[in-house]
Amino acid sequence: MTDTLLARKAVDYEQPDNSPTGGAVCATKHAWARVPVEPSAAERTALKDKIRRLLKEKNAVMVSHYYVHPDLQDLAEETGGIVSDSLEMARFGRDHAATTLVVSGVRFMGETSKILSPEKRVLMPDLDATCSLDLGCPVDEFSAFCDAHPDRTVVVYANTSAAVKARSDWLVTSSCALDIVKALKEQGQKILWAPDRHLGGYIQRETGADMVMWGGSCIVHDEFKAFELEELMHEHPGARLLVHPESPAAVVALADAVGSTSGILNAAREMDAKTFIVATDNGMMHKLRTLNPGKTFIEAPTAGNSATCKSCAHCPWMAMNGLADVARVLETGANEVHVDQGLGLRARVPIDRMLAFTAALKQGPVPGSLVAHIGAA
Ligand code: 13P
Ligand code: SF4
Repeated sequence: MTDTLLARKAVDYEQPDNSPTGGAVCATKHAWARVPVEPSAAERTALKDKIRRLLKEKNAVMVSHYYVHPDLQDLAEETGGIVSDSLEMARFGRDHAATTLVVSGVRFMGETSKILSPEKRVLMPDLDATCSLDLGCPVDEFSAFCDAHPDRTVVVYANTSAAVKARSDWLVTSSCALDIVKALKEQGQKILWAPDRHLGGYIQRETGADMVMWGGSCIVHDEFKAFELEELMHEHPGARLLVHPESPAAVVALADAVGSTSGILNAAREMDAKTFIVATDNGMMHKLRTLNPGKTFIEAPTAGNSATCKSCAHCPWMAMNGLADVARVLETGANEVHVDQGLGLRARVPIDRMLAFTAALKQGPVPGSLVAHIGAA
């Protein structure tokens, strides 16, 4: 029988409205305040030239997520780096010969790269670029949650701190969570899941696994609204809906395809529809549109008609990454990611399990030996 328990943590990025007039304020206003100003065309060209030169001089490679500024996606690809989902970012950084990785994304992505490549220098444009899932799952409370469920295999989403990863048995990203939990369930294991309750709920519904869950969520995907989405689908009857599984269950239930950022990209390429509605961070639109020039992509609605504040479907922490900071950190070596050595070794165990599992999955059915020996931490 499925046994769900929600442990909720108030996330400390929320700020009280202390403006003199009161009224609605954006909960992530301090992050938005740090988003770099768009450079002029001339500055942009100069920054890109400088980055190209520094990457060669410093034996460095760019590893970018699909949600960061299009310039950081294009430049990564053009210079031999990668733009990808969080699973492939981790794998690419580990396997690349460069001695410096410039990770454009959020903090957990830089930390995962460092854990997998402790010998490399990992730099990030802004070390304060974080994630509401990571913020909402502090290690002490998470450890107490694990201690309360010693019979369960601890499965943790990549969007967490190194300390939380170190307390887990398995790491997953949205591109492999379903396969990993399914395999664990087939081995008779009960799951403790953290931190995203929407992704966890989706995995639970799809696999029927026995899961207790942390109650975190992504501030971007949490905003997609099913009712308004249905109205939009009504206006575009031929459109297909592509949804990231960090979205609420009512939104996932409407989807034609549910997947990680890479999964969404693959679905858009493979499905023969001409129009798609997309429920994920709108940073994704850049790749969707450039790779599918004959198709139309529409952003899913993020607030009801009566709402006073419409979320912009963009992660403020992803938006903190910019060209000028990439150039600066390459030049100066600032913003290096450090992970305590012992912690990194412990956190690496669940990450390596995930990478071994997903590598085996590419070859065919995963041998039971890859999941059978894992018990609760
Ligand atoms: P992906 O692993 O699908 O790229 O997701 C990472 C993320 O932070 C989504 O909000
Ligand atoms: Fe975290 Fe959501 Fe931003 Fe992804 S989009 S990094 S899950 S806050």
